[in-house]
Amino acid sequence: MSDGLDGVVAAETVLSDVDGLAGHLVIRGYTLDDLAGRTRFEDIAHLLFDGFFEDMPTDLAPALGRARAAVFAAMGPLDAGLLALTPVEAMRALTARLPDGDDVETALKLLAAPAVFIPAVVRAQAGQSLAPPDPSLGHSADILRMLHGRPATAAEADALDAYLVTVSDHGLNASTFAARVVASTQAGLTSAVLAGISALKGPLHGGAPGPVIDMLDGIGRPEKARAWLEAALDRGERLMGFGHRIYRVRDPRADVLKAAVRRLSKSSGVLPGRAAFAEAVEAAALDILRDRKPDRPLDINVEFYTALLLEALAFPTATFTGVFAMGRVAGWIAHAREQLVGGRLIRPQSRYIGPQPRRAA
Ligand code: ACO
Repeated sequence: MSDGLDGVVAAETVLSDVDGLAGHLVIRGYTLDDLAGRTRFEDIAHLLFDGFFEDMPTDLAPALGRARAAVFAAMGPLDAGLLALTPVEAMRALTARLPDGDDVETALKLLAAPAVFIPAVVRAQAGQSLAPPDPSLGHSADILRMLHGRPATAAEADALDAYLVTVSDHGLNASTFAARVVASTQAGLTSAVLAGISALKGPLHGGAPGPVIDMLDGIGRPEKARAWLEAALDRGERLMGFGHRIYRVRDPRADVLKAAVRRLSKSSGVLPGRAAFAEAVEAAALDILRDRKPDRPLDINVEFYTALLLEALAFPTATFTGVFAMGRVAGWIAHAREQLVGGRLIRPQSRYIGPQPRRAA
C-alpha cells in the first residue's frame, strides 16, 4: 500500500501534466511560461472547458460577466452567522446554495462564485457596502474592483490574471482528486466544487499562503531570517511555502509568480523592499532545508510568492485560500466533467487491520 497514495496514478487526463523531476507544468498542451502573464483567466477557463460542454460560448468573458451578476443577484442576505465564518468558509456556504447541474450555465456560475462571494464577504465583515459586479469588465479587474470598491489598474488586473492562470490546474492534487471522486458519483458540479473547496482550505494544500505572511512578519528583518527559521524547524514546524509531494525541484509556478511580483513592483512604491526581503528569506530557507534534509529535496512551492503577490494586491490574508479557489475552480470543473464523461465511479479499497470478529457480549 502507498501511504498518501504517493506515486499512484488514479486518473488519465488531457488537462494538465505535472513533471515533478523536471519542474514543468503543461496545461492542455501549453507550458505555464507560455500562458501566465499573457493569458486572461477567461481564456484559460475556456481552454480547460473546451470539449467538455455543449453550447460553450466562443468568448467566455461576457458570459462569465453575466454569471457574476447572476450569482451576486441571487446571493441573498449575508447574515451574522455567515459573517462569523472565515471568508473561505463563508464562500463555501454561499456556494452550497447554488443548485447542482452539469451544464455550462452551472459551470459559469461556479466559476463566478468565489470571485463574487469572497469580496462580498470581506466588505460585509468590514461593515462596508457591497460593490456589485460589472459584467463589462474582465474577471480579474472586476474581482479587484468588487473587493476594493475602486477600479483596478491594468498592472493590478494583469498580476491577478497571472496568478489565477498559474493556479488554474495542477494534475491530481488533493482538491482536484476530491472533486473527481464526488463527480464520479454523478452528484453534480456544485457538489464537486464544494469538495474541492473543502480539500483546498487545509494548510498542507491551499491554506499555506496566509501562514507564509505570518512567517515573514515573524521574521521581520532579513538578518533575523536564519535564526527564526532554524528555531521553527527545531520546534518541529514546517516552513510554509516549501516542499511539495510531486516536485523534487523548484515548483515552476513559484518563478512565474516571482516574475509577476517583480512586474507589479514597478508600479508599486511599497513592494520592492518587501520583495527583496522575501527573496532573502527564500534564500535562507533553501540553504537551511538543504543542510537539514540532505536526502529529501525541499524547494520553494507555489504558495510563497502567492502570498507576496496577493498581499501586494491588498487581499486580506484571510482571503488567500479563497483567491486560490477563484483560479482552481476552473480546473475542478474541467476535471469533474472529464471524470463524468469518460470515467467510472471512483471506489478504491481499504485493507482491514482492526480486530477479528468476536462474539458480542
Ligand atoms: N519544512 C520543513 N520540512 C519539510 C517541509 C517543510 N515545508 N516539507 C516537508 N518536510 C520534511 C518532512 O518533515 C519530512 O521529513 P522527515 O522525513 O525527516 O520526517 C520530509 O520532508 C517529507 O515530508 P512529507 O510529509 O512526507 O512530504 P509530503 O510530500 O507529504 O508533503 C507538503 C508535501 C505537505 C506540501 C509538505 O512539503 C509541507 O507540509 N509543506 C509546507 C506546507 C505548504 O507549503 N503547503 C503548500 C503546498 S503547495 C499546494 O498544495 C498548492
